[in-house]
Amino acid sequence: MLKINKLKKIKSNFPVIVGEKIISKSVCNSLIKEISNSKNFDDMIMGGRSRINKGSKNFNKYILGSKISKKLFTTFNTESFYKKIDKKFKTEFKSNIWESLFKPKIFNKKKYTLKRKVNSKELERLLGKNYKNPNLNLDIDFSVSKGGYRLRPHRDDINRIYNFLIYLTDIPKKNGGSLTLYKKKANKNLRKKFRRFPKINELSKVKEFPPKKGSIIFFKSTPNSYHGVTRFKEKNCPKRFFIYGSYAFNKPVIWKFKNFEYHPYIVATKKRMLTSFHDSNYLLKSSNHAN
Ligand SMILES: [Fe+2]
Repeated sequence: MLKINKLKKIKSNFPVIVGEKIISKSVCNSLIKEISNSKNFDDMIMGGRSRINKGSKNFNKYILGSKISKKLFTTFNTESFYKKIDKKFKTEFKSNIWESLFKPKIFNKKKYTLKRKVNSKELERLLGKNYKNPNLNLDIDFSVSKGGYRLRPHRDDINRIYNFLIYLTDIPKKNGGSLTLYKKKANKNLRKKFRRFPKINELSKVKEFPPKKGSIIFFKSTPNSYHGVTRFKEKNCPKRFFIYGSYAFNKPVIWKFKNFEYHPYIVATKKRMLTSFHDSNYLLKSSNHAN
């Protein structure tokens, strides 16, 4: 179903592997048909993206009635597939400087990251204080976006190790909707802080990917893995069908960069939001502190 060996690394400031025609046209068309036939979506976010999220009753119903989506989900939702991707990154990036401090113990097929609106205190309670001995799970959603969809530059949730996108439709460049990778303009040897939502003028564009039918991109969810989506214009163009997923821990990831550690800090807010909206920044752990 997936030609993973065709994925190749690109030049970027964080680990990214991409490939075209990883999924055949006919499989893409079947997936589009299945998503189109879905009568219910779990939510709509970012100005026009409808999602069917792993973990919802709706998702279970969707998978039961959608043969090809089920096959794809079942393939991704295994420890062996995760290991294949992890190995691919290890071989493509021999001098891999960003690593998770703790290695996952168990791959849990049934688990998923909660998609509930919480304030920062509730989120901290959910995440717990002990970040050791993480378990791993797959998060995935089947999505379709209409015109107006966009994502400002950001880094994904703090519990994510690898993120991936599977594009099911060809979107002409003039219609936008391109996945854009960014890096911080200022070059520093050692950064004290990686904000989750940096200002656009602090960033420079590294690469732009207009969605191509059957293409896949995987990237490591490192503190500097800034990405976004340019505003999608639907005129004379199909809807933007895609699948987003992650291999995620059940707790926050502490990232190791060479011999330095970056720990996540959530900015306090009373506002209840999805975890993906919370301001969670990675700060360099000072070696002067003995804790
Ligand atoms: Fe993202």
